[in-house]
Amino acid sequence: MARPRTVFVCQQCSAQHAKWLGRCTECGAWESVVEETQRAVVPAAGSRTSLAVGAARGGAPQRLGDVAHEQRDRTGSGLIELDRVLGGGLVRGSVTLLGGDPGIGKSTIALQIGGTLAQAGARVLYVSGEESPEQLKLRADRLGTGLEVTVLPETCLEEILAVADRLEPQLIVVDSIQTVHSRELTSAAGSVAQVRECAASLTTHAKATGRSTLLIGHVTREGSIAGPRVLEHVVDTVLYFEGDPGSGLRLLRGVKNRFGPTNEVGVFEMGEAGLSDVANPSEILLAERPRGVPGSAVLPTVEGTRPLLVEVQALASRSVLAMPRRTTLGLDSNRTAVLSAIVDRRAGLRLFEHDLFVSVAGGVRVQEPAADLAILAAIVSSARDVPVPPDAVFFGEVGLAGEVRAVRHAETRLKEAAKLGFARAFLPEITARRIEPPAGLRLVGIPAVGDLCAALADSGVS
Ligand SMILES: Nc1ncnc2c1ncn2[C@@H]1O[C@H](COP(=O)(O)OP(=O)(O)OP(=O)(O)O)[C@@H](O)[C@H]1O
Ligand SMILES: [Mg+2]
Repeated sequence: MARPRTVFVCQQCSAQHAKWLGRCTECGAWESVVEETQRAVVPAAGSRTSLAVGAARGGAPQRLGDVAHEQRDRTGSGLIELDRVLGGGLVRGSVTLLGGDPGIGKSTIALQIGGTLAQAGARVLYVSGEESPEQLKLRADRLGTGLEVTVLPETCLEEILAVADRLEPQLIVVDSIQTVHSRELTSAAGSVAQVRECAASLTTHAKATGRSTLLIGHVTREGSIAGPRVLEHVVDTVLYFEGDPGSGLRLLRGVKNRFGPTNEVGVFEMGEAGLSDVANPSEILLAERPRGVPGSAVLPTVEGTRPLLVEVQALASRSVLAMPRRTTLGLDSNRTAVLSAIVDRRAGLRLFEHDLFVSVAGGVRVQEPAADLAILAAIVSSARDVPVPPDAVFFGEVGLAGEVRAVRHAETRLKEAAKLGFARAFLPEITARRIEPPAGLRLVGIPAVGDLCAALADSGVS
């Protein structure tokens, strides 16, 4: 008989502690440790609640070269951009975790996928722990898809699995995993133990039955999927939905994929009829770019294999604080602080007298170091109050010594810039020397930060 016990579990990293702590000693997160009463579940052989999840089943050892090639059975989701991120469609028996901010469109995309599969003749079970069937029907009416989907308003894991065994759907959507609880555990729905156990059971179920499963997950204030870290390890694919809730543009990023590329990005537009594919995201991202305004620079970024032109904006305003502010949106704040120190030191801009606000327009998040040169161009332009040339793009990594370093995918970035009519590219000098530019694009090689300031001064930013 399982005996209940009290444990103190960190909601961030799942570390267990003997007593309550204000700060997790494992990951350093504050106020993340919560008390949980759980029954020590001893998995019986073949038990569905076993934590030993994954596609690996018992079998004889064999030479890797003799393993027969398994043909992946994929189903198109009806959204080209989503299929790109997944690597060609939903894999049979795979488990996909979809996270994103509240209201970003997680239920919408799930219903659209379910609708497409159901129209193609598949059985789709949509388990809704958050919305009533009436709310889902309203959404399906608005989207014009999903009416063939079977809705199950249920939060009990054992009930969900029983219904799934009866209906034998090809796709199970669980909206959301945080609402599901297992009767086997005494802790509350949404707790670390519950989320971990329910996700593990649903994964085991998916692997055993070949039913593709889509788990929708809430995200924390820090932007990671709420619940234990192990959740991301258990599933096959992790997708994050991002975008500025104010704009219709949504980005779907694959951060983990056992069956396809990672870091691939799909771009959608949210409208009355749901999410639609966007084939020309750069044009949309730059549509509202102000011309002739200081502090705006265009960056050709590469997400996965896809080039995207985004606008980096900076505002340097005179500070009255002893320690001026450095605020960023969509960029790494530490990186931006380092870059402002570099430009201060290497190019003599007195940025320590300024508050600095730097962001990427359109709610896009850019993490790659190739953004450095564009961030610096925007900062220099704002600090000097002179716009950068409107026909220019900027990319390159900047080192602490002020040197501009080569980055990957230079050709892809330049091709996208040329396609959108840009005439100049400021890039690392080493890259400019070895690359043949696309027609209509002039390359301006920048060896170091000081040279960027000089090149901008030559073209108007004095
Ligand atoms: N009538 C409408 N016209 C256009 N867009 C709409 C309409 N109704 C809802 N939306 C869009 O759908 C979004 C909500 O989508 P959805 O409910 O799928 O989000 P969610 O990520 O599942 O949210 P939650 O975290 O609350 O479950 C809204 O933010 C809005 O952008
Ligand atoms: Mg929802």
